[in-house]
Amino acid sequence: MNIKQNPNSNLKVLVSGASGFIGKKLVERLLKSNISVRAISRNIKNLSELKHDNLEKMEINALNYNELVNALNGIDVAYFLIHSMEGESNNWTKFIELDKKIAKNFAMAATKNNVKRIIYLSGLVSIPDREMSKHMASRKEVGEILKTSKAKVTIFRASVIIGNGSGGFKMMHYLVERLPIMICPRWVLTKLQPIFVDDVISYLFESLFKRETEGKMFDVGGPDTIPYKDLMKLYAKKNNKTIRMIIIPFLSLRLTSYWVDLITPMKKSLTRPLVEGLKNESVITENSIKKIIPLKLKGVDQSLDIAIGTQIQNQKHTARKEILLSYLLILLGITGAAHYWVDERIMSMHLLGHISTGIWFLLLLVGYFFIKKGARLGALLAGIVGWTAALFLLIDSMYLISYLPKIGSYTVSKGIAILGNYPDANTVLLNIMGLFVIAILLVVAHFTFYDKNKNVK
Ligand SMILES: NC(=O)c1ccc[n+]([C@@H]2O[C@H](COP(=O)([O-])OP(=O)(O)OC[C@H]3O[C@@H](n4cnc5c(N)ncnc54)[C@H](OP(=O)(O)O)[C@@H]3O)[C@@H](O)[C@H]2O)c1
Repeated sequence: MNIKQNPNSNLKVLVSGASGFIGKKLVERLLKSNISVRAISRNIKNLSELKHDNLEKMEINALNYNELVNALNGIDVAYFLIHSMEGESNNWTKFIELDKKIAKNFAMAATKNNVKRIIYLSGLVSIPDREMSKHMASRKEVGEILKTSKAKVTIFRASVIIGNGSGGFKMMHYLVERLPIMICPRWVLTKLQPIFVDDVISYLFESLFKRETEGKMFDVGGPDTIPYKDLMKLYAKKNNKTIRMIIIPFLSLRLTSYWVDLITPMKKSLTRPLVEGLKNESVITENSIKKIIPLKLKGVDQSLDIAIGTQIQNQKHTARKEILLSYLLILLGITGAAHYWVDERIMSMHLLGHISTGIWFLLLLVGYFFIKKGARLGALLAGIVGWTAALFLLIDSMYLISYLPKIGSYTVSKGIAILGNYPDANTVLLNIMGLFVIAILLVVAHFTFYDKNKNVK
């Protein structure tokens, strides 16, 4: 098939994943060149930003074969940009099965509709298959499945794509914003060859008019090769931040993904594959595309400048639960501090007691900071602070109740509480109030920590 770049061309192109980071930009680029586009998404509202006379929108779930057959009807070229990195935390590996099923449906539906070409953007890995992360192995398999179609398949393999909106870029942003010091696994030294998003779009777009790209696979990467660690440092520097990265050789990717999950408000289904992907060296192994589509590619420095310049201010992701939790934490802090005024026993407390109290207050402050940032670590710290305070107050109150040391001005017995002798009526009141606040705080912290609807993709 020889497709010429003609503004009046009758070419009908389908873009799957049109609501995604790459898909949205590609649709805009195609429409700008007067190409008729059918954009698909599982929810038509996700395509609301895209508007044009040559644009047709369809609500399609690619897991449903019949829906895909309808979507591909009358299509000449179909872009495959679907990615299933979503869902609940404990199901994060599910994307592998989903991607496989979607690719099968897509290949079969394309054959049924005599689609001439499929263009797929995959991930670039330059290490042997057996060392690849699950995510990358799955991206590779998707390419193999698509090739079973009668359509001619072009595969582009891209390394990290720099651009505002990409999952990897968001993760880097949150980490740099929140952590001046990072404990990292040795894989942060893995080499990457990042590429600017507009350059990727240019390759995908130009490929439409280049017959030589049919049925072939190409690596695409920018002019710079850089370890992930240096990319993060450069990003931090450009945001006027200094980060220190301490490399712990035995730190596993699994452990790393746990703390990334605690620090960023992103879904585990997105961060887990991204962190595991650190082990994939991602450097181009061939550059035949340069002859077919010669582009002046942007380097890392320039790409980061543009991406940071267009960065939409961080979405406000403080949900209602998080607001309530932050108020409860303030209340708990006030109750804790009130003990210093009300509870006379505190003055005679051992130095160790004062140090523990200081640590407790510090944890409370750090928890408050992370709750405000929408990170799960905030809820975790609120839980720790809540449980330690509850334990303390419970033991203190138990002594109080069993010995009833003082009622009004009458000393009933000489009970010994956790802080020492004679807790008085004010302290009792404070302990009861504290326990009440803690009970609510623990419930809210629990539901915030296990919130299945983290709202940042
Ligand atoms: N982003 C990067 O840095 C990067 C780097 C290298 C390669 N790539 C490749 O580029 C491609 C696109 O990545 P991206 O970052 O643009 O992905 P993305 O932003 O996560 O978008 C994924 C898209 O898949 C669609 N989708 C998921 N399940 C679907 C289903 N069952 N039916 C129909 N649509 C479904 C989603 O649409 P709805 O939710 O609206 O239905 C969404 O538009 C991927 O193949 C990826 O491997 C990306």
